[in-house]
Order: sequence, then structure tokens, then C-alpha cells
Amino acid sequence: MGKIIAVHSYKGGTGKTLLSVNLAATFVKHGKKICLLDLDFRAPSLSTILKIKKAECWLNDYLNGTCKIDKVLIDLSDRIHNDGKLFVGLANPSTEAIRDMSAKDRKWEMRALGRLLALRSSLLNDKGLDYLIFDTSPGLQYSSINAVVSADLVIVATTFDMSDVDGTKRMLRELYDLFEKKTDIVLNKVLYDVSSKFGKEEVQTKVKDVYQVPLLGVIPCFCEISRAEGNIIFAQERPDHPFAKILDEIANKIDNDVA
Ligand SMILES: Nc1ncnc2c1ncn2[C@@H]1O[C@H](COP(=O)(O)OP(=O)(O)O)[C@@H](O)[C@H]1O
Ligand SMILES: [Mg+2]
Repeated sequence: MGKIIAVHSYKGGTGKTLLSVNLAATFVKHGKKICLLDLDFRAPSLSTILKIKKAECWLNDYLNGTCKIDKVLIDLSDRIHNDGKLFVGLANPSTEAIRDMSAKDRKWEMRALGRLLALRSSLLNDKGLDYLIFDTSPGLQYSSINAVVSADLVIVATTFDMSDVDGTKRMLRELYDLFEKKTDIVLNKVLYDVSSKFGKEEVQTKVKDVYQVPLLGVIPCFCEISRAEGNIIFAQERPDHPFAKILDEIANKIDNDVA
């Protein structure tokens, strides 16, 4: 049976969306059937990144109980010339929808959790997907916690930024441990200094010391990624780029770990 992966972080801008999209594309490249869902209702991004202006239904509607999940999913398999399959579900990026989602109460969030959990049978079982990938909001808001609770594996995107490190450590102890989630770290935006002693191994040792959870991957800060301004899905369009190679390794590790 397929598995659910939630990509989460303490702070914003740590690379969750970049990682979710490129990990999804990497799995598809490896022949897998994937569904990628934008659960960042505060700052929806996938509609822009995937250049999709309209959806028959948004994920907001599915969680509100006014639309079936089949109407939310958009089949992007044709865009990707591989054996795999890619479906996406988008968060509504309109200002009104963002405000509406921020105002939901606990009771609504409980029902939304039920609907997220129901995706395990409707998508993973019935559609035979290999992975369902959740791109989430940063921090401890209810919708992110729902995503974490529903997941089989939580990938925490983090940086060496001091406030991010402290917050991530706290989340590892207080959130993921609490729900007994399998949690891996992806360290992003690492600046390797060729002239200093701070190389790859030092980074790995430091992560293990600081977080005490497995390190799934280390992604350097790539100027090409910044320069692309979100216009390039590296896993697909630049398969020889070092970032794409790192994603291949991450995807293989996940296959071996959660299978
Ligand atoms: N390794 C990296 N090198 C260069 N730019 C990066 C890297 N990772 C992320 N970025 C850039 O940082 C910004 C925030 O990334 P994003 O994926 O939107 O973060 P989040 O979804 O966690 O808020 C984006 O402009 C993205 O392209
Ligand atoms: Mg994001």
C-alpha cells in the first residue's frame, strides 16, 4: 500500500514547496504514481508553480465537504514524459479563501482531519498511488498538525538559521514525538565554504548532534534555483543538475525506508 509523506517545517521559506514539487517529480521520473496536495492554505503556491489558473474544485472545497476528491485532482501525467503518474490538488489562492481558511474553528479542523485520513483509502488504496505528498504550512497551526497526524513519514525542511534550529528542535520533541511519527530531516540552503573545514561530513555530524533524528538529505544553496524564480522543476527539466541528483538519492532512501 502507498504511503503519506508530509513536508513540514518550523519556519517559512525553508524550501517545503520546492522540495515537495521536486520530490513528486522525482518519484514520477522513477515510474511511481504520485499525488501532490497543497495543504498550505495560508500561502498557496502550487497553482503558481505548476501554472494552473483554475480548478474544478479546490482542496478547500474537499475539506469543507462540498466537493469529492476526484473533482479536486488534476492529472498532470501528460506534462511529464515518464512512466509514472502525477496528480495534484490545489489550495485556493484567492484572498477570500485564505481569510476563510484562517478563521476555521477546532470543530471544523477535526472534521477536516477525518477527510484527510479518508484519503488513505480513496487515493492510496483505490487509485493505487505509491505516495501522497502533502506540502504544508510552517509551524504549529492546526492544518499542519492535521497533515502531520495523517502522515506515515514527516520530512522536516530546515536550515542552520538559529531561530529555525531552535524551533525545529522543539517541534521534534513536542510534536512529532508526541504523535510517534517517523521523522527525517532535510537540511536546505547549506552554504558550503570551500576554503573552510565546514564540508559535507561536518554538516552531517552537526545535524545528527543537533536534532538526533535521521538526516534524509543535504541541499546546498543553489544560485540557479533562486535565479529560476520558481519557473523550473529541476527534477524534471534539469535531470543532470546536482539538485536533481540529490533528489534521486532522497527518493531512493524513502523507498527503502518506508516500504
Ligand atoms: N537550496 C536552495 N537554493 C536556492 N534557493 C532555494 C533553495 N531552497 C529554496 N530556495 C528558494 O527559497 C524560497 C522559499 O522556498 P519555498 O520552497 O517556497 O519555501 P517554503 O515552501 O518552505 O515556504 C524560494 O524562492 C525557493 O526557490
Ligand atoms: Mg511553501
